[in-house]
Amino acid sequence: MAARNANPFRIERLGEPTVPSPLAVPSPDTLVEDSERLLVHPYLEPARDALARGELPETFELAGPRQLLYFDPARVRAAIATCGGICPGLNDVIRALVLGLTRRYGVPEVFGVRHGYQGLAAPGSLVRLDAEAVALAPARGGTMIGTSRGAPPVAEMVDTLAAHRIDLFFPVGGDGTLRGALEIAAEIARRGLEIAVVGLPKTIDNDIPWVRRSFGFETAVRLAGDAIRSAHNEASSVRRGIGLVKLMGRHAGYLAAASTLATGLADFCLVPEIPFALDDEGGLFDLLARRIERQGHAVLVVAEGAGQELFAGQDLGTDASGNPKLGDIGVLLKREIDRHFEAAGAPVSIKYIDPSYLVRSAPAGTADALHGTRLAHGAIHAAMSGRTSMVVGYWHGQLTHVPLTALAGQSRRVNPHGELWWSVLETTGQPLEIGIQRSAS
Ligand code: F6P
Repeated sequence: MAARNANPFRIERLGEPTVPSPLAVPSPDTLVEDSERLLVHPYLEPARDALARGELPETFELAGPRQLLYFDPARVRAAIATCGGICPGLNDVIRALVLGLTRRYGVPEVFGVRHGYQGLAAPGSLVRLDAEAVALAPARGGTMIGTSRGAPPVAEMVDTLAAHRIDLFFPVGGDGTLRGALEIAAEIARRGLEIAVVGLPKTIDNDIPWVRRSFGFETAVRLAGDAIRSAHNEASSVRRGIGLVKLMGRHAGYLAAASTLATGLADFCLVPEIPFALDDEGGLFDLLARRIERQGHAVLVVAEGAGQELFAGQDLGTDASGNPKLGDIGVLLKREIDRHFEAAGAPVSIKYIDPSYLVRSAPAGTADALHGTRLAHGAIHAAMSGRTSMVVGYWHGQLTHVPLTALAGQSRRVNPHGELWWSVLETTGQPLEIGIQRSAS
């Protein structure tokens, strides 16, 4: 029976692949068939129901090398751009892309775009990358080819790709970058060009839809944990000590939640997904007072996007990527906590740590170096096979192909009723509601 529904995770292709892969002979066991697909929702009942209705359950293509390629590797020119804020693992990804393209497929020319999308429209922004150029790159953090926020008009970026006869384009970035990649791919299609656009999911925020773990996140959790440990050492060494740590993550609380869970040292974790009140009964001040009373000190982890309602009425503007700027919740909390306990006649000794740029500028740890390398290999295989307008995803432990259209208008956020958040509540001992409804700790 033919399926009636269209899979929203269908991947665009530039055309039929007809070129035998140079990988097919040396490593036939690693080849992935197009029919190998991963269920988006891995539960038996919905899949059975869909099949009973004559529909196919939603599935992702699995990433991996294909038997047939769209591009003849010997003629390929590839370009890589890193965009947005830096993140551990960018240089590992650049190296893996360069080595995978040149050594595995024999691609003769790979370029790095200097300073991301902004550079893509500037003359002379493409620099040649080879094995020697990238050899030692992962030893340092940041990105060896530079990055930027925002983008020039899409037509100018595609002009550059066309002028340099680029066949494969790999934008590496977070949700803003991948939105830009969708526009670039659409402009390429509008002009009838044959350029594969395959993105790689980078961000310490871990907020990209259909990507369970972006590269950089794991290292960020470990380094954020160091800051929480320091805050705990400070707070627990003095009378009525409070250690306050602010972590990045923009509108998502994954970094704060995961590092709180991993260290087990925080008494409170505040994330953007869950509003809190300061001075209501059962609010943050109340709970802090009780915790200090009980154990002599307290550690508070706050995600930068938490408590933004406390800045209501202030127009903070947007950054060059168009993201709304955030009010500094760390500074506000330090000031208000100090003020509150001073006024209550029970002053606290509060030590505020903001490790944001220390965390994201570090070189990748082992897990991110490996994850980024695997994502890069998945991106190369997909692009060589002629797939386009997609990002390499990570879902149920597998690398997948995710159409860029599936990301549009979506955001990944901590679920207040999900396993991660319940585990955070368990480790901190904080209540589900902090002052928004009456609660007891
Ligand atoms: O998205 C990555 C990120 O590090 C966010 O966590 C943070 O809000 C933002 O970038 C800050 O970037 P910058 O200060 O470079 O504009």
